[in-house]
Amino acid sequence: KKILFVTSELSDLIKTGGLGDVSAALPRALRNHHDVRVLLPGYRQVMQSGHPIRLLVGTLAGHAALPPCRIGRIDLDDGLIVYVLISPELYERDGGPYGDNCNQDWPDNHIRFARLGLAAAGDASISWRPDLIHAHDWPAGLAPAYLRWRGQGTPSVFTIHNLAYQGLWRSECCAELAIPAEACRMERMEFHGQLSFLKAGVAYADRITTVSATYAREITTPDFGCGLEGFLRKKADHGLLSGIPNGIDESWEPETDPHLLRNFGVNDWAGKALHAEHVRRQFALEPSSGPLFVVVSRLVQQKGLDLTHALAESLVEHGGQLAVLGRGEPQVEDSMRQLAERFPGHVGANIGFDETVARRMFAGGDFLLMPSRYEPCGLSQLYAQRFGSLPIARRTGGLADTIEDGVTGFLFEEASLESYREALLRAFRVFAAPSLFHAMRCRAMAVPCFWRQTIDPYLHLYRQLLVESRHGEA
Ligand code: ADP
Ligand code: GLC
Repeated sequence: KKILFVTSELSDLIKTGGLGDVSAALPRALRNHHDVRVLLPGYRQVMQSGHPIRLLVGTLAGHAALPPCRIGRIDLDDGLIVYVLISPELYERDGGPYGDNCNQDWPDNHIRFARLGLAAAGDASISWRPDLIHAHDWPAGLAPAYLRWRGQGTPSVFTIHNLAYQGLWRSECCAELAIPAEACRMERMEFHGQLSFLKAGVAYADRITTVSATYAREITTPDFGCGLEGFLRKKADHGLLSGIPNGIDESWEPETDPHLLRNFGVNDWAGKALHAEHVRRQFALEPSSGPLFVVVSRLVQQKGLDLTHALAESLVEHGGQLAVLGRGEPQVEDSMRQLAERFPGHVGANIGFDETVARRMFAGGDFLLMPSRYEPCGLSQLYAQRFGSLPIARRTGGLADTIEDGVTGFLFEEASLESYREALLRAFRVFAAPSLFHAMRCRAMAVPCFWRQTIDPYLHLYRQLLVESRHGEA
């Protein structure tokens, strides 16, 4: 069957976090079963990626304030087909997918991503017509909605990767976006007087998924539901909301990953030691026989970096070192820079992102710190485990589902310093007992988390929907 992924990130071309990784890996994992293609805005990074872009015939008509667009096609090296929505005025800018280089959201994001949703909802100019549309997060939230408003029967799945980002706009935007009046109600996409793209996805898609079983439960509670818990609970009660855990792609194989300085396998700890030395040098850390803690993360409130900040001193006092890679909110970035200044030779921060540096950190780290306040799934802890770094994480969302406490990593309950400190101390104790430490590494590296091992629930979901939609037509 033909399945179109609608997404705002694809790690081959542009990513700010895990959404980009999943949007790239999941279609590939599904390829043995379905013809899956991806629709992505033609950001400058995409248009200038060096991949040949073939323009498709025809223009997508403009609609209300949404300008006309063209569609291009990129065939990635391994054959994955990406449809690129081309509109220089909307997408070809200096900055990231959602904002400028100073982290300021683009003021016309409602137009930019409504345009994406509308393009997905079947304009005749892509002659390839999908049998099912799979939309991801708020930027693609209007895809299932426009399908419905245009009376198209194509079934749709909406996946919530992060409920906290909702895409909220003034309700006056309705006209600009050609949103029908009936949609501006609480049972549809209205959220406290505003329009929510995320809620539109939830309201209009035939099925809603999120990226772990625990997060699927959590978002139906006030603590994690971001005000949508009641709405989501109704969907769950009707069997329309489920949690399908993320997997990782085949490149996360320490024995073959070309980003590494030297490949290594289970029990080849010299390979890890070599990377630890490399990371220490790169982050200006002193040579040390103590544990190396790494953070590879978007630097945002979600990730609990304030807790790591508060515990850094005790981590250093116990003989640990810390290397931080990532970018995000300016205050969090600053707090990480300050740590590095306060503990020179023991804490290093690289504010930015680089895939090779990230992979070498997963390879060189003894422990990955991930004290997230919430975590829909989390991929970093999966990458770390594959590469033999034990995650120390809060028991929430996907972290709770993918880390076995005391076996493949360490989990703590509360987002509090005491709870986190206790987990860190356990990690120090395990580090001091090499046979136990190495046994945990072996267990972590064996956690089954490749998409090929976890793809069945998606296949099952698509099958169900495709059968239902056939009956609907009959
Ligand atoms: P999230 O999606 O919430 O950021 P995940 O753990 O699911 O968390 O995904 C993290 C992925 O994003 C990893 O591939 C990681 O290497 C990458 N990543 C982390 N920080 C950044 C960043 N600042 N820019 C781009 N990618 C990043
Ligand atoms: C989001 C979540 C993260 C998840 C990723 C991919 O960014 O924060 O937990 O792993 O999406 O689904």
